[in-house]
Amino acid sequence: MAEVQLKRELGLFHTTLAGVGIILGAGIYVLIGAAAGLTGNTIWLAFVIGAVVSLFTGFSYAELSSMFPKDSAEYSYTEKSFGKGIAFFIGYLVLLSAIISASAVAIGFAGYFGSLFKIDQVLLISMMLILFLSYINFRSIKVSSWMNILCTLIEMAGLVIIIALGIFKGFTSHDAINYLEMPNGFSGVLQTAALVFFAYIGFESVVKLSEETKNPTKIIPKALILSVIISTVLYIAVAVAAITVLDWEALAASKAPLADVAAVLLGNNAFILLSVIALFSTANTVLISLIAGSRALYGISREYKKINIFTRVHPKNRTPHIAIWLVMIVSLLFCLIKEIDLIAELTNFTIFITFALINLSLIFLRYKSPDLERPYKAPLNVGRFPVMALFGILSCVFLTTQLSLTVIIGGFILSLLGFIFYFLLK
Ligand code: ALA
Repeated sequence: MAEVQLKRELGLFHTTLAGVGIILGAGIYVLIGAAAGLTGNTIWLAFVIGAVVSLFTGFSYAELSSMFPKDSAEYSYTEKSFGKGIAFFIGYLVLLSAIISASAVAIGFAGYFGSLFKIDQVLLISMMLILFLSYINFRSIKVSSWMNILCTLIEMAGLVIIIALGIFKGFTSHDAINYLEMPNGFSGVLQTAALVFFAYIGFESVVKLSEETKNPTKIIPKALILSVIISTVLYIAVAVAAITVLDWEALAASKAPLADVAAVLLGNNAFILLSVIALFSTANTVLISLIAGSRALYGISREYKKINIFTRVHPKNRTPHIAIWLVMIVSLLFCLIKEIDLIAELTNFTIFITFALINLSLIFLRYKSPDLERPYKAPLNVGRFPVMALFGILSCVFLTTQLSLTVIIGGFILSLLGFIFYFLLK
């Protein structure tokens, strides 16, 4: 019987739009304050660095997905290059990144919620959110794709408001702002890049649309690059606008940074509007992360008998309920860290290691399986050697070194646990 294929109907416009939708999330709403504290007025430059690092790795994802269009990304790419052990490790890191990003964004939600309703209970609010959204996940109330489009539009509207306010202030005020001011020097900018990289996470998922895209080998790489560029332009504009309206010290001290920016020029109603947008956007991102985390755990558990309890599906709701509860518990535990910058950095640690290994897989496969068909090939090669993938590894490792020491130590311990789990489970 002929295999049923997905309908190929997406063009460049739709894939790019979907890409921007996946990339844009709560990240900028919740991290811009912490970023200002690290880098002063130069947040925009940190976004430029983040974009370049994303693009290096993006080329590797584009090539790998063109080689294995049906496979589910990270786990299978690394299984094909390095075997089961590293593939398990990657699966574990992808699972962790989903769980930890849920905690980070939940803390961001609590910041906006607390500022709006004048409740100073960040930990309690973030935990309540995770409990509530895990219940939604359990009840299988799906976030349909139109809901995601709506959220993206609302998030964008919030960013456009901030940009408009920045432009207005820029034209009406006579204060000279030094957009290159960096109180912690260039190293502060690099640390900020390692933090705000969070805002780019998701670009790698664009390749998952390849089976539904017309002429994917041409369109997917273009869509990936375009969606990173469009997001970068938006992020830079927001970063510059925020600094134009509110000085970086005030931004750094705020728990609801973009709402405070709006309040400076438009007063309390604008504060409420931006807070509501941020709450909407953060809640949506937390829910997506909890869903992704529980499905990732469900997926890995199918490969390992000893944890097949996590493959159980609830008879009525048809959701992997045991996986959902474990993801919830671990996510609640990460909330205990409370500092949003540390939790977001920990997410980035897992992502940097994942991306470095994906780039390494690409290099490895160029030599291990040189004859495999590569409908799309990453640009800039010396013989068989993919130079972009090397830049991808170096830049991810470099940004890892820019994370706080606590995060690096914590990240190593979590990675080590991953290896221990593998030896216990295999
Ligand atoms: N890039 C996503 C965000 O900023 C994770 O929320």
